[in-house]
Amino acid sequence: DYTPSPEDKFSFGLWTVGWQGVDVFGPASRDLLDPVEATYELAELGASAVTFHDDDLLPDEAKRGATLERFEKALSDTGLAVEMVTTNLFGHPVFKEGALTANNREVRRHALAKVLRNVDLAASLGAKTFVLWGGREGAEHGAAKDVQAALDRYAESLNLLCAYVKDRGYDIRFALEPKPNEPRGDILLPTIGHALALISELDEPRMVGLNPEVGHEEMAGLNFAHGISQALWHDKLFHVDLNGQHGPRFDQDLRFGAGNLRGAFWTVDALLGGGTTNAYDGYIHFDYKPPRAEAMDGVWDSARSCMRNYLVLRERVQAFRADPAVHAALEAAEVATLRTPTLADDESLDDLRAATYDVEGLAARSVGLEALDQLALEHLMGLR
Ligand code: GCO
Ligand code: MN
Ligand code: MN
Ligand code: MN
Repeated sequence: DYTPSPEDKFSFGLWTVGWQGVDVFGPASRDLLDPVEATYELAELGASAVTFHDDDLLPDEAKRGATLERFEKALSDTGLAVEMVTTNLFGHPVFKEGALTANNREVRRHALAKVLRNVDLAASLGAKTFVLWGGREGAEHGAAKDVQAALDRYAESLNLLCAYVKDRGYDIRFALEPKPNEPRGDILLPTIGHALALISELDEPRMVGLNPEVGHEEMAGLNFAHGISQALWHDKLFHVDLNGQHGPRFDQDLRFGAGNLRGAFWTVDALLGGGTTNAYDGYIHFDYKPPRAEAMDGVWDSARSCMRNYLVLRERVQAFRADPAVHAALEAAEVATLRTPTLADDESLDDLRAATYDVEGLAARSVGLEALDQLALEHLMGLR
């Protein structure tokens, strides 16, 4: 059966089940869900951890102490961990033109102060990953944003944050979450690749990695499994936001498994290492939005389904990887041969240039890609 267990390391943002359905066309369709009650309910469903933005848990400064006390009691009652914390740098209108990269310097200083306070909270709750999603860092216009200066300020903020964490001795790493657009027309660090490139320019590149989200890469028409595989290759897959998306359109934040199901199969395969030993070992974190049409029963159904779909897909992927017919098809497609260096240790480029190649024969060779992919589809469809 597909019952979640602690070893599955399932984690949910409190803002997911807590989303009230406010959208561009209408107000909330559901009542406010107390984040502490949500914590108990998620534990009941089988989650191992929760995550939150400062404002999800502590929207009201006057109730901060009392809410934290109730929340910490919920954590100890349920055994749930807080594995990741993030900062809301997008909701308040003060961030309407950006936060860490706003043109206005006071706004940038306020944003950084908000993050610092939240890093302290993350450390006090034992979270090891701190996510930065720059939903308002971007523009709708041309000259209004000096992109190069904005990247200077992004890097400056990250450098200051890393220095702060080191100075305090916190066991925390930062994870940037790329997104191409929404809420800004064009967001900075729009894809995994853009974020990786920025990280390589930082003072402490080892302290900063990625929190890629399925839907965000797919909004840009990109292959999520390839994206996270590259992040793994760079040792930068610090965290992940699993959800579903139907191609390039608005950010749907569907439950995991909905939308691009075939992509979800390869996403799970990539998280498990894609046939290599370099697998993701962090929390399986869901960041989705229960559809606005649902009442609370539908909210909890969707949360349950995220975990169930992950477990089913994991079983399908493992069966695919264990199938002798798949091993033969991988062999026929020479997939493992790609691990052999193009030039051997004891060879020079002269050897490579002097060799003769059967170009016509190679051009006509069989590659077996369709046969291999059909086996994957049949595993996904439950036929094998
Ligand atoms: C989105 C984003 C956000 C961020 C979250 C972390 O769907 O646009 O995923 O939900 O993940 O706010 O800051
Ligand atoms: Mn996300
Ligand atoms: Mn999203
Ligand atoms: Mn989201």
